[in-house]
Amino acid sequence: MPQSDNSRVEQLLAAMRLDEKALLTAGEDLWSLPAIERVGIPKVRVTDGPSGARGPQLPGQGGGWTSVCVPCGSALGATWDVELVERVGALLGREARRKTCHVLLAPTVNLHRSPLAGRNFECYSEDPRLSGALAAAFIRGAQGEGVATTVKHFVCNDAETERYTMSSVVDERTLRELYLVPFEHAVRDGGSLGIMTAYNRLNGEWCSERGDLLAIARDEWGFEGFVLTDWYGVASTTRSADAGVDLEMPGPPRAFGPAIATAVERGELDEARLDAQVSHLLSVLDRVGALDATGEEPRSEDLPEERELVREASAASIVLLENRGVLPVDSATTGRVLVVGPNADRPSFNGGGSAQVGQAYTITPLQALRASFGPATEVRFEPGTRIDRTVPTLEVPTEVEYHAGAGLGGEALLVTSLRAFEVVSLGPPPGVEKPFSFRAVGVLEPEVTGRYELTLVQSGRARLLVDGEVLLDGFESPPPRSSAYLGYGSEEMRAFVELEAHAKVEIAIEYSSSGARGVNVVKVGCREVLAEDALDRAAAAAAEADVVIAVVGTTREWESEGFDRVSMTLPGAQDELVRRVAAANPRTVVALNTGAPVAMPWADDVGAIVQLWFGGQEMSGALADIMTGDAEPGGRLPTSIPFRLEDNPSFGNFPGESSEVRYGEGLFVGYRWYDTRGIAPRYPFGHGLAYTTFSIGEPACPVSVFRSGDRLAVTVPVANTGSRGGSQVVQLYVAPLDAPVVRPEQELVAFAKVHLEPGEVRDVVLELDDRAFAYWDVGTAETIALRARVPDTGRPRPEAEERSPGWVVAPGSYELRVGSSSAAIAHRLRVVVPDAGSPDA
Ligand code: BGC
Repeated sequence: MPQSDNSRVEQLLAAMRLDEKALLTAGEDLWSLPAIERVGIPKVRVTDGPSGARGPQLPGQGGGWTSVCVPCGSALGATWDVELVERVGALLGREARRKTCHVLLAPTVNLHRSPLAGRNFECYSEDPRLSGALAAAFIRGAQGEGVATTVKHFVCNDAETERYTMSSVVDERTLRELYLVPFEHAVRDGGSLGIMTAYNRLNGEWCSERGDLLAIARDEWGFEGFVLTDWYGVASTTRSADAGVDLEMPGPPRAFGPAIATAVERGELDEARLDAQVSHLLSVLDRVGALDATGEEPRSEDLPEERELVREASAASIVLLENRGVLPVDSATTGRVLVVGPNADRPSFNGGGSAQVGQAYTITPLQALRASFGPATEVRFEPGTRIDRTVPTLEVPTEVEYHAGAGLGGEALLVTSLRAFEVVSLGPPPGVEKPFSFRAVGVLEPEVTGRYELTLVQSGRARLLVDGEVLLDGFESPPPRSSAYLGYGSEEMRAFVELEAHAKVEIAIEYSSSGARGVNVVKVGCREVLAEDALDRAAAAAAEADVVIAVVGTTREWESEGFDRVSMTLPGAQDELVRRVAAANPRTVVALNTGAPVAMPWADDVGAIVQLWFGGQEMSGALADIMTGDAEPGGRLPTSIPFRLEDNPSFGNFPGESSEVRYGEGLFVGYRWYDTRGIAPRYPFGHGLAYTTFSIGEPACPVSVFRSGDRLAVTVPVANTGSRGGSQVVQLYVAPLDAPVVRPEQELVAFAKVHLEPGEVRDVVLELDDRAFAYWDVGTAETIALRARVPDTGRPRPEAEERSPGWVVAPGSYELRVGSSSAAIAHRLRVVVPDAGSPDA
């Protein structure tokens, strides 16, 4: 990434009037910054996000540009592979540029504090170092392609409940030792050119007004980029600007923009602060080449090499949690495979909310498994149960004809094509004025004969016609609003029709924008009505199969930005489905298509379990590769999976109440809690099996004394002792044995992933520095001030030694623990940190 040419930024700044500078402190619309044409600053665009670069369009559109959908954050977390995540970051950097954007709103590095948090799928891990190392890699990859990343959401936005107002109540040590750490890595090691502030408050104050936090980023970590708010998350004009926020998003401006110019004119804001805002932004835009942007049109690409990379990443993220000799399935000798589960034919490639992208094509696990097993194997399917909260969008190509006015009359002004029956837009397309109307037509050709449910959700007026007959009419009197489409969409209207296999029916929508507030929406849903004996059918078919593959999970209606889950239980009757098929056939493999941990009450009774995550557009192929053994399950858990929600450390302090969520577990997040309290999780942090076996040899450490300022390299020989290639993640935890403050039992300080062929042995080198041993000392200023206020009773009082806050490597013994999970420690070494005053020091 080239350095910014300071003189260019200075010249621009000097050439701009106050009002022009102020305009550059706020977006112009949802995805753009304003052009200041008089001085030659072009319009610059930003795009979400962590799982794909959607470009300047809303999430959830059936039309528009397509984007490569990469595995979600927790899946990337499960790869534990910095090199791979860097390549994924580079892919998204290229995609952002194809969408003519120079700012990528990613990565998301909040922590997995509770398994229930709605956006866990977007975030990498419960561990700040793993999150930080992967975030830095993602950023290096993306920024290497000429975009600025905006690591988000700064900070403690670890849940969605009341996300705009909630105050995360967190003590200073916990903040420093956990929640700030991924951001620190993103800035120091990744060089992120942007930081996005969080919606929530931290200890009572809005994150977009926390000058102290932004000062940590600039003064301690050397952050040189720009700070933007989360969407509509700016709290105030002068307080936010003085705190160090540079850009309000999105536009049109509310608290910043012209209001900043007024604040300067009234003497409420120093113009130097405005100059700093503009210069932070312009320096970044200059560094990524955005000041020379030429106004190209966004485009979609679907490249074989990018599909391949996404498939590699997806396979590398799949965690083999359990294997009782069932996997891999030998396709040559397996005659009958039964696939069950709602996610087998309606998979979730990503979670809900702003991370969503519209991928160029989809292939379901069922289709991928059929293709992989080949014609000699019979692959049957029984859904067993369904988990849709609303009826899924009808995915057929659709032609939309736009007309002027609300009445569908006159000539067509514009004809566009969509991949599915869903139109979501902020007003009419270019070239069409408000009010407008359209007719959308597509052909449905069901694969099976049966009873189908058709639904309509709308914002505006709409009616649904089947073969020219009106089936659902929301035109004359539109249905009431619901929470769909952020509250703009209506309740679902529904009707049932009998359809014949392979008989074509025409589906049409007549839509008018009149009465639509804000967003124009039409969604047609379609699903086959589930047979009443669906569970029995699945169990009966399981008894006849050689192997059962149950693809169960959630969807973006269950895991999404905007709300938290209320339970770890799989939605609907899925636990019952797994129980029934496993009772009928113990050779049942459960594939969990979820972004975050779920309860597995059947875990002891099934043949194998794989955690698929939301694996991106190539997830189905990657699953098939793992099932047949064409690929190795490369993932390890980036987050502990407890037996019960009640065992999780945030239990009782999640999701908060009375606008406060207390981080009552403090430092004891995830494995830090389970390991310290001696509560065994179902599957520990770092866990994951392979199709081969590994041995982790005796680690070599050159010294047994560590002095502050040293760097320590621990060498670990790893051998593949099995008969297949595979990858192992070597993990190094530090356990302080006689810490002067409360500390977790052990903490991950280094890791490395190695791929080894059968019989291969390789040395892995893990490097440690001060921070591997350090804790955050909050200093003594407060204690001294408090003591001064205690009345002098004449009794002796201990004096508090004066100490400023900072990282401390306390003298004492530390154990270095090397293993393959936080619970599978293979070797322990002792290192002593001598007392600074001792002769050994
Ligand atoms: C999300 C951000 C996202 C932004 C723009 C917000 O609601 O919290 O992560 O980048 O929207 O879509």
